[in-house]
Amino acid sequence: MSSKLWLPVPLLWAMSVLAAAAASASDDVKIAVYWGQNTSEGSLSDTCSTGLYAYVNLAFLSSFGDGRAPVLNLAGHCDPPSGGCASLAADIASCQSAGVKVLLSIGGGGLGGYNLSSPSDAQGVATYLWDNFLGGTGASGAPRPLGDAVLDGIDFDIESPSQYYDDLAQNLTSLYRSDARGRAYLLTAAPQCPFPDASLAAALGTGLFDNVWVQFYNNPGCQYAPGDAGALLRAWQNWTTGLPAATVFLGLPASLDAAGSGFVDADTLASQVLPAVEGADNYGGIMLWSRSYDKDTGFSVKLQGILRNRNNHTDTGGGTSSDKKTRIYIIVGAAAAGVLLLFLLICTCFLCHKKYRGSGTAPPEEGSVTPPASAPKKEPPQPKQRPQRLKRYTDSEVERMTKSYAHKLGHGSTGDVYRGNLRDGRQVAVKVLKDSVGDDKEFMSEVSSIGRISHVNVVPLLGFCLQGPTRALVYEYIPNGSLESYAFSNNDSVENYSLWLYWEKLFDIAVGVARVLQYLHGVGNTNIVHLNVKPRNILLDQELCPKISDVGVANLCFSKEGKRTGNARGRDRYDAPEVVSRKFGATSSKSDVYSYGVMVVEMVRAKRNINVGEDTTGKYFAQWLYEHLDPFCNSISDVSSETRDLVKKMIIVGLWCIQTAQTNQPSMSRVVEMLQSSSMDLELPVRTS
Ligand SMILES: *[C@@H]1O[C@H](CO)[C@@H](O)[C@H](O)[C@H]1NC(C)=O
Ligand SMILES: *[C@@H]1O[C@H](CO)[C@@H](O)[C@H](O)[C@H]1NC(C)=O
Ligand SMILES: *[C@@H]1O[C@H](CO)[C@@H](O)[C@H](O)[C@H]1NC(C)=O
Repeated sequence: MSSKLWLPVPLLWAMSVLAAAAASASDDVKIAVYWGQNTSEGSLSDTCSTGLYAYVNLAFLSSFGDGRAPVLNLAGHCDPPSGGCASLAADIASCQSAGVKVLLSIGGGGLGGYNLSSPSDAQGVATYLWDNFLGGTGASGAPRPLGDAVLDGIDFDIESPSQYYDDLAQNLTSLYRSDARGRAYLLTAAPQCPFPDASLAAALGTGLFDNVWVQFYNNPGCQYAPGDAGALLRAWQNWTTGLPAATVFLGLPASLDAAGSGFVDADTLASQVLPAVEGADNYGGIMLWSRSYDKDTGFSVKLQGILRNRNNHTDTGGGTSSDKKTRIYIIVGAAAAGVLLLFLLICTCFLCHKKYRGSGTAPPEEGSVTPPASAPKKEPPQPKQRPQRLKRYTDSEVERMTKSYAHKLGHGSTGDVYRGNLRDGRQVAVKVLKDSVGDDKEFMSEVSSIGRISHVNVVPLLGFCLQGPTRALVYEYIPNGSLESYAFSNNDSVENYSLWLYWEKLFDIAVGVARVLQYLHGVGNTNIVHLNVKPRNILLDQELCPKISDVGVANLCFSKEGKRTGNARGRDRYDAPEVVSRKFGATSSKSDVYSYGVMVVEMVRAKRNINVGEDTTGKYFAQWLYEHLDPFCNSISDVSSETRDLVKKMIIVGLWCIQTAQTNQPSMSRVVEMLQSSSMDLELPVRTS
């Protein structure tokens, strides 16, 4: 290979890395959040590990000044008097190592009581903060309520006017500058949106504050009003021009319940408000009150998702300066990536060419099954995946890749699933079938038809094992677990922000599953009935897009009549009656429709988790929904009317699907249509079940 070709590699690599970093940094809005006032929000380290936040303000040091003993109040998270909050040091360290700045917020709206009585009082509070939470080592007797954690700064959330906060800012800054290790500390503040702020005007006037998150809520004169951002934007203008030395953040409630007024839903924020505020040179991002509400509603997960989408489809019209910057980065990035790709392509071709010349055309791998090309296909509208060539593995290869079945991921009626690794490092999930029916030839033919399936919403099958009694299927590993563990977990110890799937995401998942079933039922030239549709078989990828697993496995494990074999377990709530017992008739695609309907109703039930009476079975809930559809939808108050429409569609579709008479159930194609129409055009079935 010519050495000329190699030269630009480091340069191109550096360019593309830089461009990627710039592009990804521009995707995410920086979010500051308050943590500490409600234990249901989860631990501090989990809050940081969501990756959603750039700053976490510990709320609050609620009592200080005028001779009071300073009191840290982190609700039920820990007990300061007994020294219980020192254990937060480890959480703070994990946040900081993840790049999240952790600050102590002093003040708050609580009744703790705080004010400053004189300049020397201010100096005393500054010294207390420095010695107990920051880099101070002066007072060896300082109790350090947060252990040996060294926070990144102090936040002023002062909500009752008093003098001397400017002195406090001055004195803290002098202490910051005295740090022996030369570490940098932040000074931030959270004023109310009327400009200037009654409590903080003098302090902010010092020009010493790095970040100022203005609370655009609980103040109708300067907050967002439905459909009208005028008051907010006028106040924004005052703040951003009035504090040229500070970075200004748009402070908002994370849900309707988080404040008396001023909530802006994520869609409106992304489409109407952010574009208007991002133009300010000292715009920094948003601040949310608070982690607990954000966790409940998934507000920032949703917002980041919308913004990523928006930035991925950056249009070419006018735009703010930061839009333009983003666009330039993206163009540079795309150009660099393009050149790099072209270069890699050339190298790959060159290498392949060389290899194939040396060894002749690559022979098919021993024992592999190439799915026969299927008859002329109507192209289904779904995005395609590369058809897989299935690899056949031996018994001992399966044992090696699963490290002797060391890590079980799950078990089901058709077999157990183990985690594994291929030789090339790829992660796989291996399903070892139990009670597989049919001879080897039938098995091979079924597996090869499963291998032919190519759909973005199906977990890709990579290979299989057929040796003696061992029959196993090797799938691509989908790292994020199943819908069951996301939407149906009541286990708070699995602290993951994605657990709180918001309605729009649940709806998207419902649509994705409907489409893939529609595909399996015939649109994709396949005719596969899944017979095991349930949340546990809906896996979610990084973007929380659904991928259905176990496709075609029913044909391997259930006898030809489509009935469960003799040792079938009892019916679970997702099974259509005919799947369990032939006395209810033959299984068909309608069996999947039934399971799908139960699943969608259960998704609504799990998300809303309301108590509708003593009988808590899904069937009872469905009947209740049937009778209370509108009141139920209207009771979901923290979402927009568009979102309520999605919920209503899910319920109506679910109720159609779970009717016992198969002739009354819609086909999956009809389900997809219903989900795409407006709930206003849909009617309830004549009766449930
Ligand atoms: C804490 O959060 C839970 C769940 O969001 C909520 O029900 C409760 O009212 C909150 N408590 C306080 C004191 O805010
Ligand atoms: C500080 O607050 C206390 C009561 O909380 C009050 O008695 C005192 O006068 C206040 N001091 C100043 C300087 O505002
Ligand atoms: C504390 O602040 C006051 C007012 O700004 C100032 O006069 C005093 O010198 C400061 N003390 C220190 C140690 O910086």
